[in-house]
Parts: sequence; structure tokens; C-alpha cells
Amino acid sequence: MIGRLNHVAIAVNDLDKATALYRDTLGAQVSAPIEQPAHGVTVVFIELPNTKIELLAPLGAGSPIAKFLEKNPDGGMHHVCYEVDDILIARDRLKAQGARVLGDGEPKIGAHGKPVLFLHPKDFSGTLVELEQV
Ligand code: CO
Repeated sequence: MIGRLNHVAIAVNDLDKATALYRDTLGAQVSAPIEQPAHGVTVVFIELPNTKIELLAPLGAGSPIAKFLEKNPDGGMHHVCYEVDDILIARDRLKAQGARVLGDGEPKIGAHGKPVLFLHPKDFSGTLVELEQV
């Protein structure tokens, strides 16, 4: 059912430092920071030959990554995003197997302008999973 790994998201407190790490130490192509107020994050996209890394830093009060960064002040892997052809079919299949979909269970428009859903980390080996319809 799942297809390509669309991205791995890494939450950080210091976006400039993490961007420099990827650009200068690891030699990757990095974007300028993009504020996404609707998602409560500022994002830097890192294009790798086979996938993307997204650096997420909190933006504004009540950012959805604030709690994660309280527990992980040095930053850490926040979620993985897998591509699916049809997000509603994927959701219904997962729910039928007992997986919990976060929020109200309806897809939202994600950081790339496409429908996304998040699955409970406790149901997926301790990893927050994002599904994106491509
Ligand atoms: Co994501």
C-alpha cells in the first residue's frame, strides 16, 4: 500500500544551526526557511537524490512540535512520510486494522499542498507516520 518515502522530518530548536549542518558539513542542497503559520512551523527543505529531509522549527505559540522539542531539546527525528495513491482508501484500511488516525481522521492539506494524515506512533513501532497522497 505505501509507496515511496516522501520525506523524513527532523524537529530542531535552532534552525540556522541545523541548516548549516546539512549545507556545510553534509554538503546537501538546502532551501531558504519557509514559514508555514497554518502548521505552526518554519521548514527548510533538503533535497536528496532519493528523498527529502525537512527541518522543522517551532513557529508561534502552540506549535505542534513544541512538546516534542521539550522532550528532545537537541532535536530529533519527528516523523516519516510515506506516499499513498489514495489517502481515504489507505485510512480506511488502516482503521479497519485497528490503527489510530490522529485528529478528526480527515485528511488536511500538508506542507506540500497535498492531503495528509498522521498515524499514532504507538501503533507504528514508536514512530509518527505521515501519509501523503501524491
Ligand atoms: Co511531514
